[in-house]
Amino acid sequence: MTYRIITIDGPAGSGKTTVSKLLARQLHCVRVDTGALYRAVAFEIHRQHICWENDAALDAFVSGLDLSVVLENEGMRVLSSGNDITPFLRTPEITMLASATSARPAVRSALLDIQRRIARQQDAVFEGRDMGTVVFPDATVKFFLVADLAVRARRRFDEIPDPAKDLSRIQADMATRDNQDIRRTQAPLKPASDAILIDSSRLTAPQVVEEMLKHL
Ligand code: C5P
Repeated sequence: MTYRIITIDGPAGSGKTTVSKLLARQLHCVRVDTGALYRAVAFEIHRQHICWENDAALDAFVSGLDLSVVLENEGMRVLSSGNDITPFLRTPEITMLASATSARPAVRSALLDIQRRIARQQDAVFEGRDMGTVVFPDATVKFFLVADLAVRARRRFDEIPDPAKDLSRIQADMATRDNQDIRRTQAPLKPASDAILIDSSRLTAPQVVEEMLKHL
């Protein structure tokens, strides 16, 4: 049996997380945040002090990696060797390290299997950067979300509770991540040729979902 797979790709802050949660709720299926998997790899690289720029060290690390996910409706937790590491994945340090380490082929191929295994078990909304281009080229429907950089930075700023947050720093970090994601040779961030493009700059998340549902 093949399941219905909806992919949502796009840069940081384009609204993927909020929209994919709402869409999964509407479709009564799970949502998979693949960015959390890349963040989990970065977290373990950091925790284990891995010299990830060294091929042999990275290969050895990846072969010992034991990641799994617990999907709870639109929510998701990531386990590493059975331990829930979800609360540690969204720090600025792990965010920037995930962007850098996700460019490494060994990291990407290690995560390919986990993502495809989930898709063989149920209907799902997958959000990420290469869902429609690499991981699920035969997805049922593919979306690519875009939004102006200033709008995306403002959204991220509004989500962060830290009173010391700095909008221009958030915007600069976001631009750095976008560049790294777009320019890498492995699975760069780009729309699949058959993806439906939606600009969310001037839309609310429910309006984006409404637009998506017209294509489903
Ligand atoms: O989506 P999120 O911002 O949590 O992703 C963190 C990082 O993981 C991104 O900056 C990107 O470099 C990487 N990523 C990726 N491919 C995906 C999802 C995320 O390379 N499918």
